[in-house]
Amino acid sequence: MTTLVTGARGRVGRTLIDLLHERGLPVRAASKAPEELQLPDGVGAVACSLGDPGTFAAALEGVRSVFLYAEPEHIDAFLAAAGEAGVAHIVLLSSSSVLMPGAATHPIAGPHWAVERALAAAPVTATVLRPGHFATNALGWAHALRTSGVLRVPYPEAHTDPIHERDIAEAALAALIEPGKAGGTHTLTGPESLSFREQVERIGRAAGRPLTVQRISEEEWKRETAAYIPGHLADALLGVWADSDGREAEIADGVRELTGRPARSFSQWAQDHAADFAA
Ligand SMILES: NC(=O)c1ccc[n+]([C@@H]2O[C@H](COP(=O)([O-])OP(=O)(O)OC[C@H]3O[C@@H](n4cnc5c(N)ncnc54)[C@H](OP(=O)(O)O)[C@@H]3O)[C@@H](O)[C@H]2O)c1
Repeated sequence: MTTLVTGARGRVGRTLIDLLHERGLPVRAASKAPEELQLPDGVGAVACSLGDPGTFAAALEGVRSVFLYAEPEHIDAFLAAAGEAGVAHIVLLSSSSVLMPGAATHPIAGPHWAVERALAAAPVTATVLRPGHFATNALGWAHALRTSGVLRVPYPEAHTDPIHERDIAEAALAALIEPGKAGGTHTLTGPESLSFREQVERIGRAAGRPLTVQRISEEEWKRETAAYIPGHLADALLGVWADSDGREAEIADGVRELTGRPARSFSQWAQDHAADFAA
């Protein structure tokens, strides 16, 4: 009855491993770099890269369910290997971006869309989780907020629906272990729509000091982030933020559907991560 958790270095995957282990359920951590994992005693690790089909068979041996990151390149090979291993249930970490027009060819939505399609065609029970904007994206602001107290972005009033990584992991856990919860598609968001400015204010409150937001041009932002955000992704993000500038994000009830309780607030997330933003 082992569950294989892919992307074990990812924040959602890692949280899910702990949740399964705390309940005494057999879990195997799969990662491109298993040697870097620090796992609880009794949790085994296996090398598994979703970009390398040669790693699939060994990782899937004896596995009954899988938590899967959305990597489309070799998804057909992964699903074939899962079928051969006897996997009965796959929980996919997709994205609510698949709901946008033109998702199939969009740089962010496209890979999730492709994996959802492949999973829908496979003879396995599939639970599709479509989270919106991860609250952990705000960790990308941590350096700037720690060092200058100012976030420089082109769209301070762009709204998102930030969701706590623990809510995504708990939704996955429910789909994996609770009777009647396997299968179906769930859109998961945080409990409220917040602009980037409002998110920074809440982080400031949790960190105990005032933090502010400064509007800069798209060109300035692209120059400042060029070292770690490739140009095509930067353009896609700018398009998403321009569309959501001053426009509230739609809130969905997927966390409650799966876990039976409301999603955690962004203020809660900011408190949980206050140390990341300390001066
Ligand atoms: N950021 C958002 O707002 C957002 C919104 C909706 C959906 N998502 C989905 O969530 C993923 C990020 O999750 P996270 O926050 O847990 O990651 P993370 O903390 O950024 O960690 C990255 C690690 O997660 C695993 N991983 C992440 N994306 C993967 C992929 N597409 N295929 C295979 N492994 C992957 C890899 O683990 P190993 O190296 O250990 O194999 C990678 O090293 C995105 O890739 C996207 O599919 C993100």
